[in-house]
Amino acid sequence: AEDSASLICQAADQIEALVSANPEAVIGIATGSTPEPLYAELTARAGRGLDLSWLRITCLDEYIGLPAQHPQSYRHYIAEQILTPWGIDPAHTVLPEGDAADPHAAAAAFEDGIRRLGGVDMQILGIGPNGHIAFNEPGSALDSRTRVVELTADTRQANSRFFERLDEVPRQALTQGIGTILESRAAIMLAFGAGKAEAVAAMIDGPVDPAVPASALQRHPNATAYLDTAAAAGSS
Ligand code: F6R
Repeated sequence: AEDSASLICQAADQIEALVSANPEAVIGIATGSTPEPLYAELTARAGRGLDLSWLRITCLDEYIGLPAQHPQSYRHYIAEQILTPWGIDPAHTVLPEGDAADPHAAAAAFEDGIRRLGGVDMQILGIGPNGHIAFNEPGSALDSRTRVVELTADTRQANSRFFERLDEVPRQALTQGIGTILESRAAIMLAFGAGKAEAVAAMIDGPVDPAVPASALQRHPNATAYLDTAAAAGSS
């Protein structure tokens, strides 16, 4: 679509339909800037009577080393943008413990937690300019599971806009693997703006290739990409 506002409404409609069918659906949250207007639209709908409070919430990834209260931790983002505005009990969340003493054990516990929820009904996704999904950087195995990863210089640079200084951006993260993401029952990919066009073209038209982690979504049974004209400019 020409403008992202109509795409946000369509994506919100898709989520609203799921919530109406299953108020306790498991929603996988992506952090980052792109989905923020979607979360705001759903918050506005909650204000008009859509009950989101019974949803189960999980997410894609988390920085290693930031405490949950840190303003740039993904647990903080989710508390602020999802749990509080949607009225969700934190007991109904499964989020990676980025500040655990043993991050590898935290990765395994996160994956177990998703399994105990019964899997993800709807995974929201963004795409990095280098084609990453979650923190699966180029070269990640297509069957990878939740694990500890090193962030690339590009990703740290892109995310430094949220921090005061580049050296404050963590060097490692916990991320769902590509294999984990492909097990979600439905996925919504949001990409807006020319900065995403090259990655979007490779995701849609390129081969399924670990060099472009998002290309694995070609193998997802039920994935919808919501693209504005600028982000779609390079794809067929
Ligand atoms: C966030 C995440 C990332 C972002 C991607 C795009 O949980 O997993 O893969 O979706 O980096 O970020 P934005 O939307 O800020 O351009």
